[in-house]
Order: sequence, then structure tokens, then C-alpha cells
Amino acid sequence: MNQDTIQAALSDLPLGGLRYFEQIGSTNDVALEWLNEKDVQDFSLVIANEQTTGRGRSGRIWQTPPDSALALSLLLLPISRETKNISHFTGLGALALTTALEDLYTLKTEIKWPNDVLLNKKKLAGILVEASWLGESPKGIVLGMGVNIRAESVPLPKALNFPATSLEEELDKPVERTRILNGILSALLKWRPLLGTDEMVAAWDERLAFRSEQVSVGRRGRQVIHGKVLGINKDGSLRLDTADSVLFGDVHLRPRRV
Ligand code: ATP
Ligand code: BTN
Repeated sequence: MNQDTIQAALSDLPLGGLRYFEQIGSTNDVALEWLNEKDVQDFSLVIANEQTTGRGRSGRIWQTPPDSALALSLLLLPISRETKNISHFTGLGALALTTALEDLYTLKTEIKWPNDVLLNKKKLAGILVEASWLGESPKGIVLGMGVNIRAESVPLPKALNFPATSLEEELDKPVERTRILNGILSALLKWRPLLGTDEMVAAWDERLAFRSEQVSVGRRGRQVIHGKVLGINKDGSLRLDTADSVLFGDVHLRPRRV
């Protein structure tokens, strides 16, 4: 994978710009800086072969060893309708990945609310959406996504608080990273105009992991909520049978061990 092979693989897509790195700290950091440049274009891509300080939510570590994963950050300059649906961008990323894998490999993946994609109940990918703000409005959105492709991308169990896997381990065959990248971005272009609509939320909801199962939702500094997963609300929050809804933030959803 290099700048030229990526450019070629994405030649059918309206990419605003492309910055490829053999090794970088975090693609989200590069993308957040790029958002401050004056000629920044919508739908620009930062992608790296390796991240040395990849991160998840609340500064947790996201591991991206070399040659083994997709680590990308997409710059989106939201139109006004999208700024009202900012809480849906994480779902948009998850939906793009799940539907791309359905189309490419007829593979069924699930969305573990709020920001992970599971394959066979194990974490395949994580999404980290960050924004740069101009007063009350988001000037730009960075949609970061890490997808485990080869077995080497999966951290050792001691570094994990939820089981993880990679696409090649589950498919039991080699896959081409640039093909998956094209699939993800194509799916994102398809879903983006539907951001926040009933159709998009229904598609997100359809792929929800742990539906009808008992789960525990941990929230930083607040009491854990237990309940049965009922679905996703129109605003992208999670609906349990025991609580009105669980909003985003630093929340951790786990199957409940009773
Ligand atoms: P949740 O599972 O509820 O999303 P979390 O504790 O997993 O919360 P996140 O910020 O979503 O936190 O993800 C970061 C975590 O993901 C890390 O703390 C680590 O446990 C795990 N992790 C790190 N790198 C990878 C990877 N390449 N594949 C799978 N999991 C990873
Ligand atoms: C999570 O599960 O908490 C989200 C992980 C997001 C990882 C991706 S990899 C590309 C981008 N750059 C980062 O530093 N993080 C995101």
C-alpha cells in the first residue's frame, strides 16, 4: 500500500485530497490539523500503514502495527443539515463498514453501540469521530476508523478489554486492503446524504449487536445501567427496557454476566 496504489484504488471516488503515511502518530491528529488549512476540501483522506500513537475514545490506545490494518481518517466539511445530526457520524462510519463488508464478502457484522464493529462477536473495528469547532458549529468532522485486517493487527489479550479479531482470520483468506478501503468510502458516500434520516437509523438499528440481550452500560463517574437492548433512537442514542435512553459519551456496553 502506498500513495499511488491508494490513489489508483480510489480513482472512481470524488476524493478531496489524499495524504498517505508509512508511519504516523495518529491519522486523526493529522486530519484535525489539515482541517485548519485554508484550502481544505471535503472528503479528503488521511491514511497510514502504521500508527504509533493511535487512539480510541478518552485517549485509550488503538494499536495499528505495520502492514496489517486500515487506519484512516476522513475529513468531512458538514453542510448545515449535517451539523444538526452530528451525533450520527459515528453510526455513519459503522454503517459504511458493515454494509461494505456485506457487499464485498456477504459477511454479516454487527454494530456494538456506540462505536465498534463486531465480527463473530469480536471487535473488528473501532470508530473515533472528532470535530473542530467554530463557536457553536462544527467547522469540520474527522471520522477516524481502524479496521483489523491481518492477524498481526490484533493486540495481545492482555491489552484488550473486549475480545478482538481480524478480517483475514474470520474469512480464512487473504484480502486486499485497498479494495476494502474503496468499499468503505463508496458505502459512506451512499449513506451520507441519508445522515439522521429514518432510513439511516433503521439500517443502523438492524445491525445492532446484543439486540434483546441483557447488557450493562458503564458511564464514567455514573452508575452502571443494566437492561435489555431494544434499539437505537432517532437521535442515535441507545434504548434499553430499563432506561429512557443512554446518550453517547464515554460509555462501555458489555453483555451482562448474570
Ligand atoms: P468499548 O468497548 O465500550 O467501545 P473500550 O474500552 O473498548 O470501550 P474504546 O476507546 O472504544 O474503549 O477502544 C479502545 C480499546 O480497544 C483499547 O483500550 C483496547 O482495549 C482495544 N484495542 C486497541 N487496539 C485494538 C485493535 N487493534 N483491535 C481491537 N481492539 C483494540
Ligand atoms: C475505539 O474503538 O475507541 C475507536 C478506535 C479508532 C481508531 C482509529 S484508527 C484511525 C484513527 N486514528 C486514530 O488515532 N484513531 C482512529
